[in-house]
Amino acid sequence: MSRTPIIAGNWKMNNTIKETKALLTELIPLVKDAACDVVVCAPYTSLAAAAKLLRGTNIKLGAENVHWAEKGAFTGEISADMLKELKVAYVIVGHSERRQYFGETDETVNMRAKAALSRKLKPIICVGELLEERESGKTEAVVKAQIKGAFAGIPTRQLKNIVIAYEPVWAIGTGKTATADDADNTIAVIRKTIAKLYNKGAAEEIRIQYGGSMNAKNVAELMAKPNIDGGLIGGASLKAEDFSKIVNN
Ligand code: 13P
Repeated sequence: MSRTPIIAGNWKMNNTIKETKALLTELIPLVKDAACDVVVCAPYTSLAAAAKLLRGTNIKLGAENVHWAEKGAFTGEISADMLKELKVAYVIVGHSERRQYFGETDETVNMRAKAALSRKLKPIICVGELLEERESGKTEAVVKAQIKGAFAGIPTRQLKNIVIAYEPVWAIGTGKTATADDADNTIAVIRKTIAKLYNKGAAEEIRIQYGGSMNAKNVAELMAKPNIDGGLIGGASLKAEDFSKIVNN
């Protein structure tokens, strides 16, 4: 079994087109020899400019959300076809910020993931517990339920096109990282859940990232763990040098 590590930057609501161009121009040469898959997930307004700059490089483009409908009266939303047209390869779905601030549920995460897959976009499905859930011993139950909900009705053959990101909500943007052992243990629970829903082989193959204050200092320890296949990086993806250090670790 060998899973290619995948490091993805999640820019969130950062970077104008001008800033996108500056950041990617600096980043491209710094990660050109990366031994892992490299993705940058940019805001919608930057996707066209980013696609142009990333053409012919080893960096894949990602978006930060996608709507489940093909088209129609959904003001402010973006469809999978619209992303495909911009050469987007990956799309984050179910980020905890979407769940917290925009009413995202396991059901809508599932619908968005299916829409992405139907257009050959690779969803990065995010799961993770809140601080109070962790403190009351509910971490495993929460991530299991999120995984079951997100994967409902998704066939086994699609698993190779999906990445999971385990992001404990209390570790996002707080400077607090889960210990490498804790992250690895919860990711092992996620893998077991996939094995139960599908089969052992599929669970061994699916890539699961850790996210939450991952940076150049803690990446080596996290990546040394057997279940952690990469990272979904917020703050540290906004500086080319910081992000490249994580990629090249
Ligand atoms: P930080 O790396 O800023 O904690 O953000 C993690 C995250 O939410 C990535 O999706």
